[in-house]
Amino acid sequence: MSHLKNKVAIVTGASSGIGAATARGLAEKGARVVLAGRNEKRLSQIVEDITGSGGIASYKVADATDFESTKALVAFATTTYGPVDILVNNAGLMLFSYWKDAAVGDWNKMIDTNLRGYLHAIAAVLPSMLERRSARSSSYAVLPKASGRRWAWVAGSKCL
Ligand SMILES: NC(=O)c1ccc[n+]([C@@H]2O[C@H](COP(=O)([O-])OP(=O)(O)OC[C@H]3O[C@@H](n4cnc5c(N)ncnc54)[C@H](OP(=O)(O)O)[C@@H]3O)[C@@H](O)[C@H]2O)c1
Repeated sequence: MSHLKNKVAIVTGASSGIGAATARGLAEKGARVVLAGRNEKRLSQIVEDITGSGGIASYKVADATDFESTKALVAFATTTYGPVDILVNNAGLMLFSYWKDAAVGDWNKMIDTNLRGYLHAIAAVLPSMLERRSARSSSYAVLPKASGRRWAWVAGSKCL
């Protein structure tokens, strides 16, 4: 039996790309998955695919930049499936620009999502994980090596 069977997992940024693939993979291994993101249409389509293939999944619209929204996501997962065992802290933005162009608005969006969003999700799941002495969390980072020009702020916002 898979060690993921019946585990409760939250995948943030699950409406596309790596997050969607991770959510599908966890559900295939028997986890009960809550997919999160802002795009409800895409989330509901992916959940429909997963449940149509026999997996267990639900979605919750949640904005990673908003701590209250992230706490509501964790509350939803806990009410729907039970305490959260696994957090895949994947929501993120990569807005490329040259440093010389000072795209301050984009930098702020990346800091709010990649850095604050990352902190919000961990802070929202950690109390219950600590209480149960059970935690699995994964996050993504880009190496500072990539921080030469257009990647600079993406790398900076990911290096916590
Ligand atoms: N692909 C790569 O080569 C690569 C390399 C290094 C790091 N990464 C990191 O890996 C992660 C996934 O990358 P990807 O290529 O799969 O990107 P992607 O397809 O653009 O997916 C990003 C996900 O983040 C979600 N997201 C963005 N802002 C959000 C917000 N404010 N609140 C909630 N969700 C938000 C998006 O969902 P909504 O739009 O529905 O909110 C989307 O589901 C990102 O953190 C990315 O920075 C990727």
